[in-house]
Amino acid sequence: MRNEEMLLIPGPTPVVDSIYDAMSSETRGHTDSRFVAIYKHAIEQTRELLKTDGEVFVISGSGTVAMEMALVNTVAAGERLLIISHGYFGDRFIKLAKAFGIEIDVLQAEWGQQVASEEVEKKLGEHTYKAVTVTHADTSTGVAADLDCLVPLIKKHGALVIVDGVCATAALEEDMSKEYGSPEYKIDIVLTGSQKAIGVPPGLAIVAFNQTALKAREALGHVPAYYCDIHNWIPIMQNPANYFATPPVNLIYAYEEGIKLVLAEGMDERIMRHAAFGRAVRTALREYGMTPLASEEVAASTLSCILYPEGLNDTEFRAALAQKGIIVAGALAHLAGKAFRIGHMGNTTEDMLAGAIRAIGEVLNDMGYEVEIDKAVLRFTEEVSVTNQ
Ligand SMILES: Cc1ncc(COP(=O)(O)O)c(C=O)c1O
Repeated sequence: MRNEEMLLIPGPTPVVDSIYDAMSSETRGHTDSRFVAIYKHAIEQTRELLKTDGEVFVISGSGTVAMEMALVNTVAAGERLLIISHGYFGDRFIKLAKAFGIEIDVLQAEWGQQVASEEVEKKLGEHTYKAVTVTHADTSTGVAADLDCLVPLIKKHGALVIVDGVCATAALEEDMSKEYGSPEYKIDIVLTGSQKAIGVPPGLAIVAFNQTALKAREALGHVPAYYCDIHNWIPIMQNPANYFATPPVNLIYAYEEGIKLVLAEGMDERIMRHAAFGRAVRTALREYGMTPLASEEVAASTLSCILYPEGLNDTEFRAALAQKGIIVAGALAHLAGKAFRIGHMGNTTEDMLAGAIRAIGEVLNDMGYEVEIDKAVLRFTEEVSVTNQ
């Protein structure tokens, strides 16, 4: 990898050379047949990844655009949305829904925990919801939602299931063909971005609608959007030679290569690899006296939010790590200064993470915390191989 630094924040994630190479291919016109073929392949691969019977949308924008696209095409002003939030990004749906006059109820977990399924069941029994949002892995807390539990609960009550996969797609299972206990109990929408577990630079909003979600769009008639109205994009996704808004040509090159790598590794492999990395990173950091915010039962495999030992200075710690070429992120909201977040997703490798564990140990020792680096690195390696068996 030609990267000079190890970008272990929870997205963007390290970009591999073949993706950079694809991205730096010659910029062509967006209706040039050579570009159109690549865009078409990128769309087909997205469909293959998410296994939807509906439409996928791959457009310019960040994850937030994908969130907006999911909501504005399915829930009208005055209709009711239930938001299941495991942190900062789950909460983002609150402001988004309010901006469109959508009525909301919110179930918020204490940071580091999941919303209890009993609470979800109770809420679903109290009102009729058009849709429910579930943040698959919340990037603020490192908590993953349990789709096996939530999808059937939500579908039993007839609501659309909207899964925010910004920090999960291509690492956690998001199979839109999967029947969660009954043939019609399926995920209706997955939304994501290019920059996390897919491992492509930021800039693409990716959304998949199944047939049920597409019917919901039809039933709405007019929606309060132009760029995010899927009606404007369906003709492009069906034939990328059509024009609606200029696609980010070079990012599409990069994404086509990124998804190719994802599919070549295979989702079963990737799910296992991410689970192994997540567990191993947290195990090693526990050796240093650090505490993951989320318990192993609910921890996301894509990133971890790690509480510092008493008295450790966040700014100094992260600056010292950066000096060693390892970039981790600060924590958000009330955890700022008290924890850091480390990404272990996408094209991150075992060697990179073992190097990060070693560097973290060195920084801790330099800051006066006596830790056993070799032991932690060994625990990391052991845990990766155990989980991989
Ligand atoms: C789970 C989740 N949802 C949504 C977003 C928003 O994505 P973006 O920053 O690309 O707009 C993020 C960003 O980190 C996220 O982690």
